[in-house]
Amino acid sequence: MAQRIKVWDGAVRFFHWAMVLLVAGLWFSGSEGYIVVHQILAYCLASLLIARIIWGIWGSETARFSQFAASPQAAIKYLGNARPVVGHNPASSYMIFTLMTLLLLQIISGLATFDNSYMSDGPLVALLPASWVDLASAIHKLNIDIILILVTVHIGFALWHSWRHDNVIKTMVTGTAKLNNVPQPVMQASWRFFVMLAVFLLILYYWQGRMLLALL
Ligand code: HEM
Ligand code: HEM
Repeated sequence: MAQRIKVWDGAVRFFHWAMVLLVAGLWFSGSEGYIVVHQILAYCLASLLIARIIWGIWGSETARFSQFAASPQAAIKYLGNARPVVGHNPASSYMIFTLMTLLLLQIISGLATFDNSYMSDGPLVALLPASWVDLASAIHKLNIDIILILVTVHIGFALWHSWRHDNVIKTMVTGTAKLNNVPQPVMQASWRFFVMLAVFLLILYYWQGRMLLALL
């Protein structure tokens, strides 16, 4: 019997859609040279990602990385036999780990990216040898193209899956889905995620944010 199941908590849904807006803003501000705005958005994304990583260890059952870790064979098999699942399916799990890792790499390389001005250089530029800064700046430029290609594939699969099988895009918006014979996953209260997010935002605000806001 199909019942309505809570698949994604508020924390995961907020994380996803806030990340989409921030990545769009980061791509635009980075490419157009609005580097102060760019860095402010980047620290918001950094706070969001760190809070999500901790939520992946202590959060709701469907948010936990241990729940969506799958073997490569399971992922390939799933692509040939897609069906509704509670949480991430084995194939999407790989895409999600990759996207999160590349976004972290983009943030770390950004910290050492050169912009020709001590005020808008990444904060590690002044501390690192020139060869490291050159490497980080090159990674920062190349990695965004890889992220954008993977995001296009990710959106393509989300649309395909929603059209052919269950509407996973709607589930990422509403948090619920009608599924057959599956137990309700254990959910944690999302306020814990938002408290962590606020703490990381505050730390990064004191480290860089207030200096950047003063430059606006
Ligand atoms: C910058 C663009 C995007 C990035 C970086 C991104 C990244 C991610 C990440 C990291 C997750 C895992 C969420 C979590 O477990 O907390 C996810 C899930 C998901 N995303 Fe995106 N996403 C992007 C855009 C989109 C868009 C535009 C759509 C819809 C058209 C979409 C549809 C989905 C869906 C349906 C899931 C759940 C997948 C599943 O059921 O396994 N994403 N995305
Ligand atoms: C704390 C984190 C970050 C810092 C400090 C940072 C810093 C910078 C700086 C200084 C530049 C200018 C480089 C130049 O003048 O050529 C830049 C460019 C750029 N950044 Fe970031 N960034 C960060 C995170 C991100 C993130 C998370 C994204 C995307 C998801 C991103 C996307 C870009 C893009 C697309 C450019 C333009 C690259 C080009 O010139 O082709 N950055 N960033």
